[in-house]
Parts: sequence; C-alpha cells; structure tokens
Amino acid sequence: MSQPSTQRTLVLLKPDTVRRGLVGEVLSRFEAKGLTIVAMEHRTIDASVADQHYAEHVERDFYPPLRDFVTSGPLVALVLEGDEAIEVVRALNGSTDGRKAAPGTIRGDLSLSNRENLVHGSDSEESAARETAIWFPHLA
Ligand code: TYD
Ligand code: MG
Repeated sequence: MSQPSTQRTLVLLKPDTVRRGLVGEVLSRFEAKGLTIVAMEHRTIDASVADQHYAEHVERDFYPPLRDFVTSGPLVALVLEGDEAIEVVRALNGSTDGRKAAPGTIRGDLSLSNRENLVHGSDSEESAARETAIWFPHLA
C-alpha cells in the first residue's frame, strides 16, 4: 500500500473570486475535500509580484491582460496542505479554460472565461516551493 504523501501547495483565489463574492464557496470546496489551510492572506499585488508569480508566462501574448487582471483588486493567497495536495487542488480547480472545464470543478461550475478562471494552484512540487517563497517567505 502506498504511503500518504503530504504536500503543500500555493493557491490563489484571484480577484474575480473576491469581486464575485465566491471566496466562501471556493474555500469551502477545499475544506470539504479535507485540505488544511496553513496560511491565508487577503492582498492586492503590483505588477512586479505578478511577474514573479507568472514568470513562466511573462513573454506570452496572453500575459499583459492577465497581469492587468491579477493586479486589478484584492485576491486571497493560501497555502493548503494534505495528501497529494498539489494534484488534488488542480483536479478540484478543473482545466484552465472555464468554458471547457468539467462540471463539478470550481472553474467548470463557476467560470465562463479562459482568463478570469477564479483560482490558481501550483502545478508541481518545484512550482509550489517557488511560489510559496514569493507569497509566504516565512514558510519557504
Ligand atoms: P496556465 O499556467 O496555462 O494555466 P493554469 O492556471 O491552469 O495552471 O496559465 C496561467 C493563467 O493564465 C491561467 O489560469 C489563465 C491565464 N491564461 C490566459 O489568460 N489565456 C490563455 O490562453 C492561457 C493558456 C492562460
Ligand atoms: Mg499554471
């Protein structure tokens, strides 16, 4: 039997989640799944933090409007912990494009956009470590 692998992952409830009053709805899905909140902060970021967080995307055509969006108002940053938390959060979030994400996922149920898709979840252990150092340096 495989051993549980406890992981931590960096999650953002992006400005659309806050603006639309969906923080409680989205947080409750993570909590109901059994993930533990180990850090949480309500924060508005500037372009330099956006550029660090999305370092892999800064040269992409979609990045300038994405940067405008993630800096457009407060968001909620979290570190969630649990067994296989990185993959579990990505599964709960659903695929990137809210129009195509499966019903039952956060994006599939609540987003109709490829940009304003409510949530971010780290995509690997390396990303989780890198992103946690940006948002919650005391946990890195
Ligand atoms: P990406 O890392 O590919 O998706 P995910 O959040 O599922 O890991 O892209 C980062 C964010 O960039 C994505 O959540 C929404 C935005 N984005 C766009 O605005 N347009 C696009 O064409 C893509 C691929 C992403
Ligand atoms: Mg990504």
